Amino acid sequence: MTWLVTGGAGYIGAHVVQKLVDAGHDVVVLDEATTGTHRLPPQVTLVQANLTQNQTLHRLFNDYDFQGVVHVAARKQVRESVEKPLFYWRENIGGLTNLLTAMQVHSVKNLVFSSSAAVYGQPQLGSDAIIAEDAHCNPINPYGATKLAGEWMAEALTVSDDFKVVALRYFNVGGAGNANLGDEYSYNLIPIVFDALEKNESPIVFGKNFETSDGTCIRDYVHVEDLADAHVSAVEYVSAAEPKFTAINIGTGKGSSVLEVMNMVAKVSGIEFEPKFVQARQGDPAALVADVSRAKELLNWVSQRSLEDIVRSAWLAKNP
Ligand SMILES: NC(=O)c1ccc[n+]([C@@H]2O[C@H](COP(=O)([O-])OP(=O)(O)OC[C@H]3O[C@@H](n4cnc5c(N)ncnc54)[C@H](O)[C@@H]3O)[C@@H](O)[C@H]2O)c1
Repeated sequence: MTWLVTGGAGYIGAHVVQKLVDAGHDVVVLDEATTGTHRLPPQVTLVQANLTQNQTLHRLFNDYDFQGVVHVAARKQVRESVEKPLFYWRENIGGLTNLLTAMQVHSVKNLVFSSSAAVYGQPQLGSDAIIAEDAHCNPINPYGATKLAGEWMAEALTVSDDFKVVALRYFNVGGAGNANLGDEYSYNLIPIVFDALEKNESPIVFGKNFETSDGTCIRDYVHVEDLADAHVSAVEYVSAAEPKFTAINIGTGKGSSVLEVMNMVAKVSGIEFEPKFVQARQGDPAALVADVSRAKELLNWVSQRSLEDIVRSAWLAKNP
């Protein structure tokens, strides 16, 4: 039996595909392959299409007897989503509607969905800044809204059609499995810092007066290899589950501040630099760290790799 991985040619998807193949699964990838250009293992078929192309989707589900779908494909830039909200709803929610319809028609009922900590928005947290899955979700941008709406849409099918759905809420993903699999786009802190250094510019820090140990934002950085391992556990979990929806945080349970990440970049790259502080961005929570107890309990998964592993592997992928 075969798993369909949408978005499998992208940064995270390519790592997930490699781990699924390593675990002995047959994999087919559907990806438009415009932002994702990562190389896939030779035994994996790539169907180059957009999720909005309904006929291609139905043909694909006719051609394969899928055990389930790992739905990674999505547009993911927060700022772009604010500028082009309808594009985000069309691609992320229109695309998911088509995918779920094809799954329903072809009785494929196992879904692992790439969700995000963005569903939580700006939560009011205790001093440990830890957030659990049952916290109130209140996304503050169209990107996060499409992730939460995607969870709701998939959850509804667990009631109407006995679907089994695991939504993995990724925290801040970084690092690379090998030199071919690095994150090529600068939307996350670590590649943004690398890009600034490459251009001989000072990396920018948004805000220095947050109520954190060094005044900069704290986030939970998880290695993309650990994240991909969590997907292997998730496909096994969802295959054996009862019809239901389960959201699971995927992080480390430990936070790192922006300055700690920058110090790690300086250590790994050997480049000394002074960051440039600018005004905090509106809506940035001071700290957001995953409660990872559910991932441990249900998926028997805990992250293995450190912040240094994340930064070092990302640096080596950029500078092979
Ligand atoms: N990178 C992060 O830190 C992070 C954090 C939380 C959640 N996520 C989620 O993880 C997933 C993957 O992110 P990534 O960082 O690998 O992004 P990416 O842009 O590298 O990969 C996304 C892939 O999906 C494909 N795609 C997007 N929309 C498509 C569509 N409508 N039809 C066909 N293909 C389409 C793109 O071609 C690309 O290859 C996304 O769902 C994103 O929302 C990422």
